[in-house]
Amino acid sequence: MKNSIFVLLVAITLLQACVDEIEPDFVATPMQVSMPSWVDKMPIPADNPLTVEGVALGRKLFYEKKLSGDNSISCASCHSQLHGFSDSNRYSAGINGLQGNRQAMAVFNMAWETSFFWDGRIATLEKQAHDPVVNPVEMNAQWSDVLRKLQADPQYPNLFKSAFGTERIDSVLVTKAIAQFERSIVSFDSRYDRYVYKNDTSALNASEKRGALIFENSACLHCHAGVLLTDNSFRNNGLPFDPSDPGYGAVTGKAEDMGKFKVTSLRNIAYTAPYMHDGRFKTLEEVVEHYNSGITFGIANLDPFLIGATPGLGLSPQQKVDLVAFLKTMSDESLLRNPAYAKPD
Ligand code: HEC
Ligand code: HEC
Repeated sequence: MKNSIFVLLVAITLLQACVDEIEPDFVATPMQVSMPSWVDKMPIPADNPLTVEGVALGRKLFYEKKLSGDNSISCASCHSQLHGFSDSNRYSAGINGLQGNRQAMAVFNMAWETSFFWDGRIATLEKQAHDPVVNPVEMNAQWSDVLRKLQADPQYPNLFKSAFGTERIDSVLVTKAIAQFERSIVSFDSRYDRYVYKNDTSALNASEKRGALIFENSACLHCHAGVLLTDNSFRNNGLPFDPSDPGYGAVTGKAEDMGKFKVTSLRNIAYTAPYMHDGRFKTLEEVVEHYNSGITFGIANLDPFLIGATPGLGLSPQQKVDLVAFLKTMSDESLLRNPAYAKPD
């Protein structure tokens, strides 16, 4: 009797192992994302290479409402393609309409980012994707419930098998797939790119060209720097200090980081209103006026690049128009239309 129970247990364990185990020689189809020559090679973690099957699965999951507690919202509810994968609401509505206190960030060119969220509290895209699912003001789900729903779905077990070689769905594989899809969303096709990187002087009109010079002379490009139009650092750009959200300082615990937030990319900035970590500005005109005359001088940790601009940029009305016009040349319409990033059928 004892023996037969033992045999049964061994058999069950072996069976379980067969179901659980990733096929030893499993390989999905490697995927190359095509990119212009002026962009650095995409950094990709060794344990999560981009594959055709992984990206397709991640895309489906990004649009999947089963990732939320009451099946009402997906990642795309707050990161909509039409808005450069950000949210046009100041504070996104999570499950049951609950709101956080930060503006949803735009999700493109994420592969080159070195930390995530306005305060940089997370270091990898894989870990980032874990957070909204369980965040009470976002998707408010339990991973165990989400995994049960996906496992019971007629399609997902097969899709995980083709992406990762196993039908057994866990949160590590879910977040790996989502991160793969996010890395596949790239955006480098704007008039700004044609002007700067392809030396096409006809890509910008006279006002936009004047704006480009103002951008250069107003310190903007020190922080919104390089091909990504961000230097991936944390800085204080002169917004009044709000003790309820000290930003990067709350993560590092250092006095010198209080009131600092992530420098975001200005690519596609015309699509991603409202602006700043708390979505306080509705338009680019308001943002430019902030840098022109609204900086809180004397605030702790104000960035030296902006202290240099005391008492403000002193731009004329025409210069402000030119600067806004230039910022709009950083838009890449193909990002909004690319069917590869849209909700799958
Ligand atoms: C209810 C709205 C909401 C939902 C749903 C949501 N997000 Fe977000 N997302 C935000 C907000 C708000 C932020 C900024 C939060 C912060 O800084 O604390 C953010 C930040 C991010 C960032 C950081 C980008 C950067 O530049 O640092 C990524 C990546 C991201 N979300 C991906 C996702 C993914 C993947 C999902 C689905 C699993 C998701 N989001 C679901 C609102 C949402
Ligand atoms: C010292 C670095 C620095 C300089 C110089 C700077 N910025 Fe910023 N910028 C930031 C930071 C940091 C944020 C995010 C701040 C926040 O949300 O608290 C930001 C946010 C923005 C945003 C909103 C981004 C979003 O995703 O909501 C725009 C637009 C912008 N800056 C444009 C400009 C322009 C135009 C100039 C030049 C006149 C400029 N910046 C100069 C650091 C800088």
